[in-house]
Amino acid sequence: MNAEPCTYVIFGATGNLSRIKLMPALYHLECAKRLPEGTKILAVGRRPWDQQKWLAEVRDMIVTKVKSEFDESVFQSFSERLSYHQGDIGQVECYAELAAVLNDKVNFSRNMAFYLSISPADFGTVMERLSKNQLFDEDEGWRRVIIEKPFGYDLDSAQALQKRISRYLTEEQIYRIDHYLGKGMVQNVLVFRFANVMLEPLWNRNYIDHIQITHSEELGIEGRGDYYNSAGALRDMLQSHLLQLLTLVTMEPPATMDAESLRDEKVKVLKSIRPIPKEAVHNHAFRAQYAQGHIKGEKVNSYLQEDNIPENSITETYASMKLYVDNWRWRGVPIYMRTGKRLAKAQSTISICFRHPPLQFFRGTDVHCMNPNWILMGIQPEECIRIEMTVKEPGLEMSTRTSSLDASFRNQDEKAIDAYEDLLLDVLKGDRSLFLRFDEVEHAWRIVDPILQTWANERDYIVTYPAGSWGPEDSRLFEKSAQSWRSSLTPECK
Ligand code: BG6
Repeated sequence: MNAEPCTYVIFGATGNLSRIKLMPALYHLECAKRLPEGTKILAVGRRPWDQQKWLAEVRDMIVTKVKSEFDESVFQSFSERLSYHQGDIGQVECYAELAAVLNDKVNFSRNMAFYLSISPADFGTVMERLSKNQLFDEDEGWRRVIIEKPFGYDLDSAQALQKRISRYLTEEQIYRIDHYLGKGMVQNVLVFRFANVMLEPLWNRNYIDHIQITHSEELGIEGRGDYYNSAGALRDMLQSHLLQLLTLVTMEPPATMDAESLRDEKVKVLKSIRPIPKEAVHNHAFRAQYAQGHIKGEKVNSYLQEDNIPENSITETYASMKLYVDNWRWRGVPIYMRTGKRLAKAQSTISICFRHPPLQFFRGTDVHCMNPNWILMGIQPEECIRIEMTVKEPGLEMSTRTSSLDASFRNQDEKAIDAYEDLLLDVLKGDRSLFLRFDEVEHAWRIVDPILQTWANERDYIVTYPAGSWGPEDSRLFEKSAQSWRSSLTPECK
């Protein structure tokens, strides 16, 4: 698929996402000469800025992000694509004025992508008004809308939002972002699974004991108190990014790499996840909140001391969950997922634990127990795939140790690409494989809804964990005493 020129219209262009992700990603695409000629970026913001001020702002966003790699000549050509439109998305006039600006066919391509980097509460209204001003009409070029998560707050609100926006847009025009799908290592999960035939016979309930997916952060809520307090870790990470990782690890090979086949397979997995009955929520899910503690030796506040957090908040900053995919491949294999803010280390990993080998052969030797094989996938910051094998220790004794085989993802001289670069380019190509179809979002809400409802009713108490630790004691989720959280990508001594 070829990238086509387009006018990117970014709502919320002066906000945090635009500052740290969107503008730097577009600049990187400029550096890589991947933005088609004629592509323009029109920022919509409330502040009374002129062109000069906007260019200075964007320069600052990019310099802060790329630091010494800033290239003045690339920025010059990039800045020719940029313009700023002052408008308040809450006011009806904003849209007619915007439509008038975009009507300038000489300056702005007829293909338009509207990026909604705004509060989810405004999604419906903004789309309604864009539609009323004919900005979604595809008479002269395509019109696409990119929506940031969260898509809804629970199953009902997601369905209501979908019902509303489908009055203005077809599913083909909607690009629901889950930026995890733009990460190189996340895409590598599919390549690793489906391009290596030796894995296939092992990738099932006969050989795999359990799967773990961890996303831990050292950071706290970084000034996003309002949003985070109403979301919590389960909505913020598990319902979206981590469930997506689960689908990639467990799905069947799609017939082709096209968007529909890929998403069909992901939906099949989500549909196969065993529903959690309300009375069993505590066996399947755990929540906790960070208390004061230390990160890298520095004292940090508790969640309740953060700005804009009500003093009696019981919003979870840590959530863990056990799920089962009840299909032929996976029935009986627990999948454990956890995420948390202010944990001991920032990392995202998928860890696959194989069954224990029988010890029979080693009877009468010093080998009394052996570690199971693991496949470890480091998504970030370390990007790697490791297979842990048991080998003999050199020497006269019969003893064993763990050795890892590395299938590294990126060589040191190969540049990392930010997820948003890939996704923003896919919008220009009209490739929706890495965007979420509504049924994916819907099923994901269906999975977590019973947990959300139970937690919403239990409002008087939440377990805490010290900032800088590995989180609360939630081992009750594990099926067997031999299972426990794996926090390291190097062999663990047991
Ligand atoms: C976002 C969440 O979607 O993903 C944040 O809202 C979280 O709370 C972030 O920190 C993690 O993304 P990444 O790419 O930094 O792992």
